[in-house]
Amino acid sequence: MMAQRYSLGAIILHWLIAAALVFQIVFAESLEGPRGPDLFARYQLHKSVGIAILLLSVLRLGWRMVAPRPAPVPGPKWAMTLSGLVHFGFYVFMIAAPVTGWIIVSTSRIKVETLLFGSLPWPHLPVPASWGEPAEFLHHFMPNVAIALLVLHVAGALRHQYLLGTPILARMLPGGHGKAIGAVLTAAAIMLGGVVLGKVIDPKGAAQGARPAATATAPVAAPAPEAASAAAPESEKAEVEEEATKKEANAEPRNWVVGKGGTLGFSARWNGEPVDGRFARWTANILFSPEALDGSKIDVSIDLGSVDTGDGQRDGTLTGSDFFDTGKFARATYRASKFKALGGNRYRADGTLTLRGVSKQVPLTFTLDITGNKARAKGSATIDRTSFGVGQGDYASTAEIAGPVAVSFDFQATARD
Ligand code: HEM
Ligand code: HEM
Repeated sequence: MMAQRYSLGAIILHWLIAAALVFQIVFAESLEGPRGPDLFARYQLHKSVGIAILLLSVLRLGWRMVAPRPAPVPGPKWAMTLSGLVHFGFYVFMIAAPVTGWIIVSTSRIKVETLLFGSLPWPHLPVPASWGEPAEFLHHFMPNVAIALLVLHVAGALRHQYLLGTPILARMLPGGHGKAIGAVLTAAAIMLGGVVLGKVIDPKGAAQGARPAATATAPVAAPAPEAASAAAPESEKAEVEEEATKKEANAEPRNWVVGKGGTLGFSARWNGEPVDGRFARWTANILFSPEALDGSKIDVSIDLGSVDTGDGQRDGTLTGSDFFDTGKFARATYRASKFKALGGNRYRADGTLTLRGVSKQVPLTFTLDITGNKARAKGSATIDRTSFGVGQGDYASTAEIAGPVAVSFDFQATARD
């Protein structure tokens, strides 16, 4: 005997995909405007939901082959043909819409990594660049056809349900017997849910709410140096002073080990909006004493692949060939052996930053508070990203991403001696 209704799997997939498609089309309206972190986050969501639709649709077609389906409702030939064509058209759209989108991003001149829902890397399709334009045309054109199909599809379902008295909704939705208003309302609610979500979702706001700006997360809480030494017992204070004089006499720079929890971050501006990031992995060899500036030396090595701007897809773009190009230049280094005391606890380093294969002089100012064998260093520098070739092609223009990037650090260190 033929099944009376679609299997539960087919029903779930039908409504999940229907809602996701409506969401996708409505949300796509917001894929416009100036390029920047906001638009970037929107594209990330558009691609994620689109690929999810593709995977669900493939699953659904597979399911269709194995799970029993009810026989088509008998009717005039034109109606059966039309319904078959609409269903076929839907399947074509459910596969072709995401695939053409996937081709667009795979052939785009600016390669943006795709990270589904911020966590699953998705490869580019190995298709020739010439496919880009037709794909773009189809990708924009097809949703209009899909909307026309939806009108026919819904009209067909309602015609059966109300005019012909065949409760067709019951095949695709529990409780759709007779003129059950509940099923119609459920269907309407699912579709409306997709529309409303597509209108209200702001991926950037959501991402920011979930994760505070990277550089703001880890300020190192160090006790104020004066307070610390005032609280220190006399003997310890004497020891510190003795050590200080010893060092002064020898004028040997001290070797410092950077403690955990330090930050090395940067702040750029993209269409006027700040983009803050930091590097999770970096090491520093520090030989430094205020009394021995001549012999002092710092050598910082930054693992560019550890960049974290709070957006996995953006990080993927930053490590890509247009920005850091970590495949070729895994690390950036900053080396300085010239220091100047600026008065008080302030110093300037005149060092060389090597980034993306380009070496340039970059002055750096910092404050240094030393108490005994503990120190806290805080400083900043401004670099011009364009002079290092960070931002190629369309990204080279400073109209969108400003040239100057503020780099800052804040860490504690312990003297090894
Ligand atoms: C974008 C949204 C939608 C898409 C892509 C879609 C797609 C499809 C497809 C491909 C089928 C054929 C299933 C098969 O036999 O393999 C189908 C069946 C069905 N759809 Fe939809 N649908 C959508 C929205 C809706 C809505 C809003 C309703 C209700 C008003 C609805 C009601 C039905 C019903 C009742 C069937 C079963 C038809 C039958 O038994 O022959 N669908 N849908
Ligand atoms: C069912 C799935 C999808 C639907 C219905 C859909 C729909 C749309 C629509 C209506 C637009 C036009 C937005 C506008 O400019 O007004 C658009 C743009 C775009 N979509 Fe999709 N999309 C889907 C899946 C995907 C996927 C999977 C990707 C990439 C992996 C993607 C990438 C893009 C891109 C890059 C654009 C901008 C194209 C351009 O304007 O040059 N889409 N999409």
